[in-house]
Amino acid sequence: MQEWKLTYDTWQPEQQMLREALCTLGNGYFATRGAFEELPAVDGAFYPGTYLAGGFNRLTSEVAGEKIENEDLVNWPNWLPLTFCHPEGEWFDIRQVELLDFRQELDMKQGVLLRRLHFRDKQGRETSLVSRRLVSMANKHVAALQWELTPLNWSGEIVVKSSLDGRVTNSGVARYRQLASQHLQSTGQGQHNAETVYLEVQTTQSRLLMAQAARVRVYREGGLESINFEVQQEEGLVSQQFSLHCEQNKPVLIEKVVQLHTSRDQAITEPLQEACKNIVRQGNFEHLRGKHVQAWQRLWNRCDLEISCNAKTQGILRLHIFHLLQTVSANTVGLDVGVPARGLHGEAYRGHIFWDELFIFPFLNLRLPELTRELLQYRFRRLPEARFAAAEAGYRGAMFPWQSGSNGREESQVIHLNPQSGRWLPDNTYLQRHISAAIAYNVWQYYQATEDMSFLTFMGAELIFDIALFWSSIATYNPSRDRYEIRNVVGPDEYHTEYPDSDEPGLNNNAYTNVMAVWVIQTALKLFDILDDSRVEELHQKLSISQEDVARWREIAVKMYVPFIENSRIIAQFEGYEKLEEFPWEAYRAKYGEAMRLDRILESEGDSVNKYKASKQADVLMLFYLFSTAELAEIFSQLQYDFTKEDKADNISYYEDRTSHGSTLSKIVHSWVLARSDRKRSWSNFQVALVSDVEDIQGGTTAEGIHLGAMAGTVDLVQRGFMGLEIREDVLWLNPVLPDELGCLDFSIRYRNHWITINLTQDTMHISFDKGWSKEVQIGVKGQVYTFATGEQRKFDITR
Ligand code: BGC
Repeated sequence: MQEWKLTYDTWQPEQQMLREALCTLGNGYFATRGAFEELPAVDGAFYPGTYLAGGFNRLTSEVAGEKIENEDLVNWPNWLPLTFCHPEGEWFDIRQVELLDFRQELDMKQGVLLRRLHFRDKQGRETSLVSRRLVSMANKHVAALQWELTPLNWSGEIVVKSSLDGRVTNSGVARYRQLASQHLQSTGQGQHNAETVYLEVQTTQSRLLMAQAARVRVYREGGLESINFEVQQEEGLVSQQFSLHCEQNKPVLIEKVVQLHTSRDQAITEPLQEACKNIVRQGNFEHLRGKHVQAWQRLWNRCDLEISCNAKTQGILRLHIFHLLQTVSANTVGLDVGVPARGLHGEAYRGHIFWDELFIFPFLNLRLPELTRELLQYRFRRLPEARFAAAEAGYRGAMFPWQSGSNGREESQVIHLNPQSGRWLPDNTYLQRHISAAIAYNVWQYYQATEDMSFLTFMGAELIFDIALFWSSIATYNPSRDRYEIRNVVGPDEYHTEYPDSDEPGLNNNAYTNVMAVWVIQTALKLFDILDDSRVEELHQKLSISQEDVARWREIAVKMYVPFIENSRIIAQFEGYEKLEEFPWEAYRAKYGEAMRLDRILESEGDSVNKYKASKQADVLMLFYLFSTAELAEIFSQLQYDFTKEDKADNISYYEDRTSHGSTLSKIVHSWVLARSDRKRSWSNFQVALVSDVEDIQGGTTAEGIHLGAMAGTVDLVQRGFMGLEIREDVLWLNPVLPDELGCLDFSIRYRNHWITINLTQDTMHISFDKGWSKEVQIGVKGQVYTFATGEQRKFDITR
């Protein structure tokens, strides 16, 4: 990992699938894994997946005697295939040649994937092959690859073949292989002009069309070569084949440019006509690369975070920003899509959208808030479905699905396979009702960072009110406690979905959920003072919110029950948590390592993780992640619970000892909550979170798709966590605690329509209030508030 590059200088077949995920190229509209051009999917070894933002399809499978329907992010036709052979020889296969040199390089600054090979075949012919690839950030419908092939000790004929392959299935995740996977049907293929072929497919249920057109050109010594293509077709596959005479040490450039359109596109007539019309307008690889690199430069200008004193951290954080921007970018605007937890990089979790937005949006809020707005609209448009779900379950308001896909219905699977035991088991994680609170929280955070009143008025407030209504209707009054309760839910820790002695799924009074519900309701009440009265009235009429409802909100906001462990000031993860058994951590850690999926391990041993005080991920600690100590103390004091700063440290220790970090999100939270109190432990948690994907710490999961929440979360940890960046009462507070290992940090953020540059060392913080279109803002440093107007700069001594 270098500052701008991820490089591999040997080929490790067992790492291929991981590298494919990490070398994915995308532009926020579609993405293609960093698979080799010359090989199709080979079970567990190679997997060239192409995914479209919002490209879902549903299929019904029969599993364990049950019919289940799943919605998947579809693997679309593979546009990569390009290969060559010597006459009468085998097609090139990296596994069949002697590799004399190998280098694969993901250039994050330019968004270009390079592979440099020097190999010797069985006949002793040595060839150099340099492959470059891009998925254009400048034109979201275009991808291109270039092969530079040089015979090193031979001259002679070769046959080259380029294809578009629509015979692909969704088979990237081994656990899902027993499920139906044929999402595409072929609707046609053929030749468009002398150098261009096309392929068109349709999804079986959602009936999305995709058309790809591929143009192949050959250049030698700077000139375009005239080629006689032989076009081969079969259902779902179209190829262009041609012969070339190669001369020793004379490089030949083979370029393939692909134009991709779908029926989800705007401003089109229909995909195939658009693909064929537009492909002829595209320039050569170098021209496309130029525009693409400029587009990336514009993104990096806004989104980079410089840590010149720590090259490794620097490189990985850039990789994380890179993959985030490849999943959502300006190209995403208008697509009506959410942000899939595993990016557009693989098929894990079927491309669904979870609460991971909570970890992803903060970075976007302060860099490209237009994207958060766009992604929040994905939720807004699915309010009717969330309302229906609430009503079906007997509640009011909007209950968003734990896993969301095309139309906002619940996409969580009903049963899931434990690969460790081979058993299909009920999956009750859909009971994570806290997802709705995360959506309201995200609306509020976006508004805080942007003061975008038009969004808040027209969409944000409706989301917050409807979610508040949901929480007030799911909460029930318990007269014996004189408190409100929320029963039958699951918290962020997915290990606990039911009580050990119960057959019913769900737990009572998950502390995180209850506090979040209170926060949503309090925020809804706050909106009465922010919005104008007529808008409040309009929304109340639209959502049927009555005076009695508001009175109930006010009561819940001060009377929600939060469980504590008996005779202690430790918040109980849920009611009854203290009755669970302690877990033998040491024995299991020795056997399975740090990041364990205890749910799977214990089930395969005939035991259940539900019995133990063992969490998959941060649950109670999420509260310290999302709220400052002051904010949390305020919520607790309104609820008339005694909770102080000192209690926070005890709670952190308590749960640190009882968490397996079976989710990559967990270490981010643990690092964050320790940032001020224990810098060493915070740094070591950060280190683990940082390498979650580059080192695939969960043993195989990254190959199935990156963990976007962890990627964005680590960047945000530096940007907000270590910076102590917080927006409170119209003040942007900066209270940095840079870990010793970071030393210095330079970045720009966009806060309420203004760009602010921050240069930080261990001793000083330099703030310049650069440019923008807001008048002035308040920035707070070390307890004091300063007014900044355009062009102002200030330097602060931040030594403790
Ligand atoms: C985690 C969830 C997360 C999901 C998608 C799960 O393993 O437990 O919190 O939302 O992955 O990233």
